[in-house]
Amino acid sequence: MKGNLLLTRSIQFLALTAVLLLTAGAAYAAQLPGQVQAAPEPLPPAQQPDNSLCLSCHSTPGEEMEMPNGDKLSIYVDMEAYSTGVHANHACQTCHPNIVSYPHPANKAQTAKEYTRQYEATCTQCHPNQTKATMDNAHARLAAEGNPNTPVCADCHSPHATAPIVKDANGDPAQSENANIALICANCHSIIVEQYKNSVHGKAVFEESNPDVPACDECHGIHNLTQARTNEFRLNSPNMCAECHSRGDIMDKYGISTEVMNTYVADFHGTTVTLFEKQSPDQETNKAVCYDCHGVHDIAATDDPQKGLQVKQNMMIACQRCHPDANENFPDSWLSHYIPSKDKYPLVYYVQLFYNILIPAALGGMGLIVATDIYRRVTDKLVRKPKEAAAPAPEEKKEG
Ligand code: HEC
Ligand code: HEC
Ligand code: HEC
Ligand code: HEC
Ligand code: HEC
Ligand code: HEC
Ligand code: HEC
Ligand code: HEC
Ligand code: HEC
Repeated sequence: MKGNLLLTRSIQFLALTAVLLLTAGAAYAAQLPGQVQAAPEPLPPAQQPDNSLCLSCHSTPGEEMEMPNGDKLSIYVDMEAYSTGVHANHACQTCHPNIVSYPHPANKAQTAKEYTRQYEATCTQCHPNQTKATMDNAHARLAAEGNPNTPVCADCHSPHATAPIVKDANGDPAQSENANIALICANCHSIIVEQYKNSVHGKAVFEESNPDVPACDECHGIHNLTQARTNEFRLNSPNMCAECHSRGDIMDKYGISTEVMNTYVADFHGTTVTLFEKQSPDQETNKAVCYDCHGVHDIAATDDPQKGLQVKQNMMIACQRCHPDANENFPDSWLSHYIPSKDKYPLVYYVQLFYNILIPAALGGMGLIVATDIYRRVTDKLVRKPKEAAAPAPEEKKEG
């Protein structure tokens, strides 16, 4: 980026700079709408911003600049992607108002990360909602605690090359965006996204574009990202799963039982977690939540021959995390999510049935006895009282 290249480009620059300065001011003012426009309709060619000057130097693939710490930053702007992207109608100066000539003003950033962070506020004027949502989300809190690697807008969205996002009726990213969302997170959470891609949920996203399964945003949010390592998140997590797993309209398609939440809540693990959640949402509990047994980002189908929980060995390992003495037979003592039936756990079924009949019968019988007793006493009183009132009370009178 030195010598001849710079010389020719400086000449180009001088030739074009006059034109630029005339148009830039007007263009900049026109490009700052008070609020976000509805859709990026391409402007008629005559009104499109003239970015040709900047692009005369910035459209060569592979060109980089070196940051003081040695980080390399590509200075290539892909014209094709830019002109089909969401910001095609905007002049470069909209976001780079300080750059109007070459050499550019000196930049103080020492690293690529610092460089990106300088643009933290650039997006605010046109995207106030996203800015507001990200302000105190989990990433922002981690940043405030001193983690330098958390993302700002431009880490997740290339300002020069973002294709329009498909939206649902609420204006949120449509389910068809699920894979794109995971790929954005994968820039930093690559291990999690790799696990996810191989999970029962992620496979459905990446291999079948299935809209019924959760992407990262369903459980975590995006701009309003919640903290995931808190007790509150853990205790609330069964509800997160239940949002889909209790719904027949979704689960029937896959032949998956919708009783998993009910049976979980009725179970000793779930009863406690539900109680905790109601009474003290911040407190730690050692009882199992769904993902202690199923995993989170690596959830497998229960009949998966390698990783499924129907494989006794896998289930035992899941239990051993909290029941260290669990052996091969330990899981047998537990009903899993099943509602006991004549075919599955017949003994439990009949015992339950017995109690279901015996207890109502016994209680009902007792109730009947009590009720008839009360009835007898009341009617007795009603019948006797008038008689008693009518009769004189001889002893009392005599004594008085
Ligand atoms: C004469 C060639 C040339 C022109 C014209 C040019 N640039 Fe640059 N630009 C460079 C070079 C070379 C670098 C690498 C760093 C440096 O040398 O300053 C750079 C770096 C940058 C950077 C990153 C560094 C920083 O200071 O933020 C931005 C942003 C940038 N240019 C934007 C623009 C915009 C916007 C325009 C149009 C107004 C433009 N450039 C016009 C050559 C040019
Ligand atoms: C919507 C706002 C926006 C527009 C419009 C915009 N940029 Fe940028 N540009 C940014 C942001 C934000 C960064 C920092 C991104 C980063 O560090 O990854 C950036 C970084 C750059 C860089 C430094 C290298 C890099 O990619 O980080 C160059 C060069 C650059 N822009 C050139 C241009 C040119 C040329 C145009 C016009 C064709 C343009 N920009 C239009 C927001 C914008
Ligand atoms: C001058 C106004 C302006 C600025 C500044 C700006 N944008 Fe945009 N952005 C728009 C417009 C207009 C659209 C297309 C309309 C819309 O929101 O759907 C858009 C669309 C987007 C989209 C896609 C949304 C979609 O619905 O398809 C993303 C992502 C985005 N911008 C990110 C950014 C980021 C990140 C920055 C800061 C680096 C930024 N924008 C700065 C005006 C702006
Ligand atoms: C951790 C990554 C991340 C950060 C940081 C981030 N976004 Fe997003 N954003 C996303 C993802 C993922 C989507 C959905 C993308 C898709 O569907 O392809 C999205 C969607 C959007 C959209 C489309 C409308 C919507 O709300 O869904 C806009 C506009 C947008 N982001 C702007 C911003 C701005 C402005 C910032 C900074 C204040 C920002 N984003 C910060 C990941 C991020
Ligand atoms: C630019 C890098 C980057 C991107 C992109 C990114 N993250 Fe993060 N994220 C981090 C860092 C750094 C941390 C803190 C260290 C860690 O937990 O690994 C973090 C932490 C988290 C946490 C834990 C928060 C807590 O404190 O409990 C969640 C959840 C998370 N990210 C979700 C996401 C999701 C979802 C996306 C995609 C929409 C995403 N991240 C994109 C860098 C990133
Ligand atoms: C079905 C819900 C669900 C989905 C989908 C999901 N997560 Fe999570 N995620 C969780 C739960 C629950 C935790 C807390 C796990 C724990 O406490 O061990 C978590 C924890 C995290 C953490 C912080 C803890 C860690 O292990 O580092 C990050 C980062 C994260 N998820 C990123 C992602 C990304 C990226 C995606 C998309 C590929 C994603 N998650 C998809 C439920 C989900
Ligand atoms: C957005 C809806 C949704 C959410 C939220 C969700 N799931 Fe699922 N889950 C599905 C769908 C749909 C399938 C079936 C996918 C397929 O078979 O292609 C599935 C499959 C499964 C399976 C495999 C069942 C089998 O044996 O075939 C398990 C286990 C599972 N999910 C557990 C969980 C857990 C645990 C959570 C919470 C951490 C959760 N899911 C959150 C929609 C969801
Ligand atoms: C103590 C461990 C444990 C907990 C906690 C747990 N599960 Fe399960 N789950 C299992 C086992 C084991 C199976 C496999 C049973 C079988 O097929 O024999 C299973 C099966 C399933 C299935 C497949 C059902 C089907 O019809 O194929 C789904 C879906 C599921 N669980 C979701 C959940 C959800 C949602 C939660 C939390 C509300 C949860 N699980 C809590 C161990 C657990
Ligand atoms: C995250 C930790 C955790 C996991 C994983 C877990 N449990 Fe538990 N389980 C507990 C706790 C805590 C109790 C309550 C113990 C008590 O109150 O004495 C409990 C109680 C039980 C009980 C009641 C009898 C007893 O020992 O008190 C059974 C049976 C049981 N679990 C079976 C299982 C099975 C089977 C699995 C594996 C599929 C499993 N658990 C996985 C934490 C867990």
